[in-house]
Amino acid sequence: MSEPKLLVFAGSVRTGSLNETLASFVVRRLTARAAHVSHISLTDYDMPLYNGDREKADGPPENAKKLCALFYEHQGIFIAGPEYNAGITPLTKNTIDWISRVEKGAVFRSRAFALGGASDGRLGAYRSLMATRQVLELGCNAFVQPEMISVPQASKAYDANGDLVDAALKSADRCLDALIANAKRYVS
Ligand SMILES: Cc1cc2nc3c(=O)[nH]c(=O)nc-3n(C[C@H](O)[C@H](O)[C@H](O)COP(=O)(O)O)c2cc1C
Repeated sequence: MSEPKLLVFAGSVRTGSLNETLASFVVRRLTARAAHVSHISLTDYDMPLYNGDREKADGPPENAKKLCALFYEHQGIFIAGPEYNAGITPLTKNTIDWISRVEKGAVFRSRAFALGGASDGRLGAYRSLMATRQVLELGCNAFVQPEMISVPQASKAYDANGDLVDAALKSADRCLDALIANAKRYVS
């Protein structure tokens, strides 16, 4: 069976984003496992806020179609999403909403998803992780694996090599091993 392709991105485009740091860490750990990994930034897939009138007039934006095509090129997708007010952030939700309007969101039903979240708070964006899971599972009918990466106190969570420390590293590796295994199921 050929190796699965994995796509990684953060739900934040902020300079110095804690979730971009998590995404970069995930890319390094996956690459060390010999997986084919693509790392993108949502800055390159800018989309207007979803608006039904706009969709009626023009359909989904080109960047939603491009990102959807990129989802199709990979079997496993890791999203590192921040937490705003105990929930999913507008950027993550808007991105998912627009892609769900391309081909009736079929891509969500044919890929393995894994979630991560980083915050300087004590909960490690856990409520955003659960909210994003709800959107993907209940809204988009996606497979979202149980294993996640939650990084509390994220500014202090990494060692000098940029790796998560101790138990957090083990738990992150379990999540990434599971993503590779789950993504393999979608390799044709
Ligand atoms: C509007 C807003 C609401 C926030 N709410 C939460 C929250 O509920 N829980 C939390 O842990 N952090 C919260 N934060 C802090 C973010 O976790 C922090 O800004 C984080 O760095 C954002 O992710 P990023 O670094 O990847 O951009 C909030 C930040 C903003 C701007």
